[in-house]
Amino acid sequence: MAMIIGFLDIFIAFIFFLVFRCLLLYKQTHKPLPTNWSVLGMLPGLLLQVHRIYDWITELLEATGMTFCFKGPWLSGTDILLTVDPVNIHYILSSNFVNYPKGMEFKKIFEVIGDAIFNIDSGMWEDMRNSSHAIFSRQDFQRLWVSTSVSKINQGLVPILDNAVEKNILVDLQDVFQRFLFDTSTILMTGYDLKCLSIEMPKVDFGGAVDGVSDAIFYRHVKPAFLWKLQYRFGVGVEKRLRRVLAVFDELLEKIISAKKEDIKSYDTKGEVTDVLTYYMTLDTVKYKHLKTSNDKFLRDTILGFLIAGRDTTASALTWFFWLLSRNPEAMTKIRQEINKKMPKFDPADLDKLVYLHGAVCETLRLYSPVPFNHKSPAKPDVLPSGHKVDENWKIVISTYALGRMKSVWGDDAEEFRPERWISASGRLKHEPSYKFLAFNAGPRTCLGKKLTFLQMKTVAVNIIQNYEIQVVEGHKTEPVPSVLLRMQHGLKVRVAKI
Ligand code: HEM
Repeated sequence: MAMIIGFLDIFIAFIFFLVFRCLLLYKQTHKPLPTNWSVLGMLPGLLLQVHRIYDWITELLEATGMTFCFKGPWLSGTDILLTVDPVNIHYILSSNFVNYPKGMEFKKIFEVIGDAIFNIDSGMWEDMRNSSHAIFSRQDFQRLWVSTSVSKINQGLVPILDNAVEKNILVDLQDVFQRFLFDTSTILMTGYDLKCLSIEMPKVDFGGAVDGVSDAIFYRHVKPAFLWKLQYRFGVGVEKRLRRVLAVFDELLEKIISAKKEDIKSYDTKGEVTDVLTYYMTLDTVKYKHLKTSNDKFLRDTILGFLIAGRDTTASALTWFFWLLSRNPEAMTKIRQEINKKMPKFDPADLDKLVYLHGAVCETLRLYSPVPFNHKSPAKPDVLPSGHKVDENWKIVISTYALGRMKSVWGDDAEEFRPERWISASGRLKHEPSYKFLAFNAGPRTCLGKKLTFLQMKTVAVNIIQNYEIQVVEGHKTEPVPSVLLRMQHGLKVRVAKI
């Protein structure tokens, strides 16, 4: 059976190759609007552009007044309404939130992460949200977040950067940030340090595993459901990798959960928060009655969700941040001047004073939103404020990446990196509404890690910028991989010098 599905894949690829050749002959490659073919729909156009999917979607939406209906192959169930119109976004994510749950379609596509907070609705989501908000907003947890980052910087990041300076070797900054975030996230979520960030750069199965999940989930959006389901069942293509990586998650989390069960017997936390897993294992289930905290599957899904939430998003943002600064040396100079003036010695209490740095982080998240797509489905048929009719269970995709680049939303300089955009005439931070600056989502499902992200990104940025000069290797290619988490295809190769 696996062989038949494999042949099916090759056959479909061959058809698309022929269509691709025809399209090339007709010189249609640079038109943003794809032709809607009678059986294949717009899929050939998509395949032609998949290597630059983010920019293509941006061009499509700019050319069509910010909302566009993508037609998938006949009867494949892959039609998608793409929108970045802020009035639609506000309507879907906030004012008419009740009609736009995650829905069954989303659940099917994301089933592999189980009942993680991103994947659930109604009572269980409310209990998950309230309980995780309760811990993420605690002052002692926020202090723990910063102190964990600082010790990882000193014990993991600095030795790697110093080693690169001393031996004059290249560093893949994306890999370094992913390892840094993996270590800090596992410490904060589980209480254990898996020490992936070290000069030896040990092999990290979990890292590749997250990439495997996010890539497969991306392709599930544009493939007919029957095909990816068959591929998953029989282990073919990206779905084969997905099956393999899920086993990696399960093995790691099983070990962590059983170790914690033993450790917890001798804990006396005196009411202090130590890590998220301990918090959930000792949670008040009378207050949060939908959460099955004694169930291993619940603990696995919860911790896996938070690990994905905290690791790859922030690692992506830091990577693009340093890349953007390498292309904008004036902004780098201003950040350095601000740090030297307002925080000559690192003190987390002063992070709020670094307004220009904050603007530079926002600008990074606007241009390179780590979660580039947001998927929604109406529970009942509806008409969006833009006038587009949507039927029950339609796939609506908001492209956060494209939204950050819309000239009609951000002005003619939308493509430029300008931290000043975020600073008012009086030198304070300017607020932008979340339906315009959507990196952290909007409405009742707004990201719960927003404050923690700024704390951590600024902590890392200050410690690197104060001590090192980062130079991206000339000609290094930085295209993003088509995925549901934005990362660079070839990492970010840099040279490091001491200041
Ligand atoms: C650059 C960093 C981050 C970005 C860009 C980001 C972005 C997002 C986005 C777009 C969502 C909505 C996802 C959806 O509904 O499909 C989300 C939700 C969420 N984020 Fe973040 N996130 C970041 C960091 C974090 C961190 C560090 C945490 C803490 C562990 C976190 C915790 C959460 C949680 C718990 C939700 C679920 C909210 C809900 O469904 O009610 N995030 N985030």
